[in-house]
Amino acid sequence: MYSHSKPSGLSIVTVALILGLATHLAASMPYIPMRARHVANVADLRESYDYIIVGGGTAGLTVADRLTEDGEYTVLVIEHGYFYDANDVLGGGRQAAQYNLTSVPQPMLGNKTAPVDIGHCVGGSSAINGMAVMRGTAEEYNIWAELGGEGSTWDWDGMLPYFKKAMHFMPPDAALAADFHISYDIESAWGQYEDTRVYASYPGSYMSPQLLTIYNAMSVMPGVDVPADGHAGTHGLFYYPVSVDPRSMTRSYSRTGHWDNLNRTNYEIITGSRADEILFDGSIANGVAFVPKDGNVTTATTVKATKEVIIAAGTIHTPQLLQLSGIGPADLLEQANIPVKVDLPGVGSNFQDHPLGPSVAYRWGTTPPSPINSTGGFGGFGPGTRFPPMTQGLGAFLSLPVVSPDNYDAIAAKYESQDLADYVPETTAESVLAGYKLQQEIYAREMRSEEVSFLNQLIGGTPGAMPIGLHVTSRGTVRIDPMHPEAEPLVDYAALTNPVDMDLMIAYVRFVRRFMESEPFAPYNATEVYPGASVTSDDDLASWIRGVYTPRGYHPIGTASKMPRELGGVVDEGLLVHGTERLSVVDASIMPTLIGGTTQLTVYAIAEKAAALIKSRQ
Ligand SMILES: Cc1cc2nc3c(=O)[nH]c(=O)nc-3n(C[C@H](O)[C@H](O)[C@H](O)COP(=O)(O)OP(=O)(O)OC[C@H]3O[C@@H](n4cnc5c(N)ncnc54)[C@H](O)[C@@H]3O)c2cc1C
Ligand SMILES: *[C@@H]1O[C@H](CO)[C@@H](O)[C@H](O)[C@H]1NC(C)=O
Ligand SMILES: *[C@@H]1O[C@H](CO)[C@@H](O)[C@H](O)[C@H]1NC(C)=O
Ligand SMILES: *[C@@H]1O[C@H](CO)[C@@H](O)[C@H](O)[C@H]1NC(C)=O
Ligand SMILES: *[C@@H]1O[C@H](CO)[C@@H](O)[C@H](O)[C@H]1NC(C)=O
Ligand SMILES: *[C@@H]1O[C@H](CO)[C@@H](O)[C@H](O)[C@H]1NC(C)=O
Ligand SMILES: *[C@@H]1O[C@H](CO)[C@@H](O)[C@H](O)[C@H]1NC(C)=O
Repeated sequence: MYSHSKPSGLSIVTVALILGLATHLAASMPYIPMRARHVANVADLRESYDYIIVGGGTAGLTVADRLTEDGEYTVLVIEHGYFYDANDVLGGGRQAAQYNLTSVPQPMLGNKTAPVDIGHCVGGSSAINGMAVMRGTAEEYNIWAELGGEGSTWDWDGMLPYFKKAMHFMPPDAALAADFHISYDIESAWGQYEDTRVYASYPGSYMSPQLLTIYNAMSVMPGVDVPADGHAGTHGLFYYPVSVDPRSMTRSYSRTGHWDNLNRTNYEIITGSRADEILFDGSIANGVAFVPKDGNVTTATTVKATKEVIIAAGTIHTPQLLQLSGIGPADLLEQANIPVKVDLPGVGSNFQDHPLGPSVAYRWGTTPPSPINSTGGFGGFGPGTRFPPMTQGLGAFLSLPVVSPDNYDAIAAKYESQDLADYVPETTAESVLAGYKLQQEIYAREMRSEEVSFLNQLIGGTPGAMPIGLHVTSRGTVRIDPMHPEAEPLVDYAALTNPVDMDLMIAYVRFVRRFMESEPFAPYNATEVYPGASVTSDDDLASWIRGVYTPRGYHPIGTASKMPRELGGVVDEGLLVHGTERLSVVDASIMPTLIGGTTQLTVYAIAEKAAALIKSRQ
């Protein structure tokens, strides 16, 4: 057993926050944190702002901070949720800070629905997420540029400066790094800017010594690389940091990094307010109408924007707001009686998330001996605190040839020979289908390459794993309900509608088995307890997987993709909405394809790049 030592530098305020005494302390302390302006009442809003940002989440607050930092421009953020104490969120009070949303029934999952978890508070999903900090491989961003067309700057080289700006890297304790073989390469991968206050660190809390047992076994699986830093463009087996400020051991997120303690009169936020229409003068976006979250929703308020309206409402609500504003598939808008401003069929299409496969569970016959004796460098919270037990830290990110050396080519060949029209709704627009087909060509190529990760196996200290798919071939939709346009949109993951997604998941499950049967584990006589060693045929595996597959991996993207209009894209290379002027989208919805990792760091980087693009337009 290793013990949780109490970190020495913990201040009394931090301890109080952990114990939930924040409100008592705040009342008795003379220090009042300076903030940008929280406008409590619509009557106190200015008539117009240079920029209005819809959504005070991960991307929204990042862009707001950058646009207000030199004092030249006024910015209003309109946020649907309220301020929320993220330390409560850590303790599991997450429901209050997230939307209560489920998908439409999924026919390939026996008509089950799937939850749709997204943040609903100042900070958005960054306030409630699992805090893993990951990045795709270089090739996964190069694909964005390939889909964007000649001259695109959204490739790896064009993203790297913004990854460095997005998070401030704090190196791990040397003893912790040595014990666990954590390596990192600041020069190639990370930034440490003073004005970047979202932190990435390896606090080491709850890192089980048994991680190393599994690390040692994975590092000798055929084809598995161990890069110096998994954030430098290639993947394999590596430790990834978490968004925790290691000095205070608290969640580091868009609110703490891009709102708290900013003393700026030109940066305002109004909460509890739902934007429900972008206003236009011809094709120029010049304002936003919003309604109160609670209370009399017939009373809309309008505010004007003189330079740009920026949408950062996230992958589910950005397409909803565009559709409510007359920008979307014409047939859908007509059914909902919304006048068509721009017929843009891509709005709400190309929806993707990382599917979570079923847990392939094992039990050790003989528990492996602890590979580490020292507890040097461990810090963080002990049991009983409100910080969640973190199984975060170590993961394998593997290309398909490594996952399935015998079968990757057959999967790629099956996928590339499909007529995709057979696997999407008949109503899918031609432009959208053209974009899907280009993605198909690219993915079939990448299924045979070692430059893109398909399987993510997160490694805790226990045997077995739950495979996570990093790239899906099915494409879902987010559309307003034509009968109730103002209600929550209809979210359809279209789970397993392309059968190749099942082939991929079967390959992932087989990899987990091959790994558990690998030589380093031989002394420990692991037994498969779930689904059980008798479930072996493709058909048996498929029916087991179908019962426990969840298409919701917390990383929804793609509903306002950055692609050309003729490929079903919604925003251009400058993130401006096709067919409009002075209207941009800056959140996770602009990613045209998933990346091989969790999405927050990429969202922060998109937002940093967006802020630079927006400033350059002035
Ligand atoms: C439970 C969970 C766990 C996750 N775990 C991880 C993880 O461990 N690592 C990782 O990297 N990523 C993780 N993610 C994903 C990551 O957090 C998201 O990809 C990212 O935060 C999305 O940022 P965004 O700016 O696109 O949207 P959000 O941060 O969700 O912001 C959208 C904001 O817009 C507001 N809004 C919506 N509609 C309106 C409207 N009409 N008017 C006004 N405001 C509106 C919302 O209230 C919200 O605050 C997780 C996400 C969730 C939900
Ligand atoms: C969430 O939605 C369900 C179904 O619409 C409803 O029964 C439930 O009360 C809602 N929960 C909350 C917390 O709003
Ligand atoms: C799923 O729902 C559809 C539409 O209501 C129905 O036709 C189909 O039979 C259902 N499938 C299952 C497995 O229940
Ligand atoms: C905030 O800004 C105002 C105006 O510039 C200044 O008077 C005040 O001292 C600042 N407060 C802090 C805490 O920096
Ligand atoms: C809501 O606002 C409308 C328009 O101002 C008003 O006519 C109506 O009485 C209000 N309803 C409630 C319940 O306050
Ligand atoms: C841990 O300590 C034991 C007893 O001192 C020793 O036999 C063993 O080799 C040590 N293991 C490691 C990994 O250092
Ligand atoms: C391995 O475990 C199985 C199942 O628990 C058991 O039947 C078998 O005897 C064990 N073998 C060894 C060598 O311990």
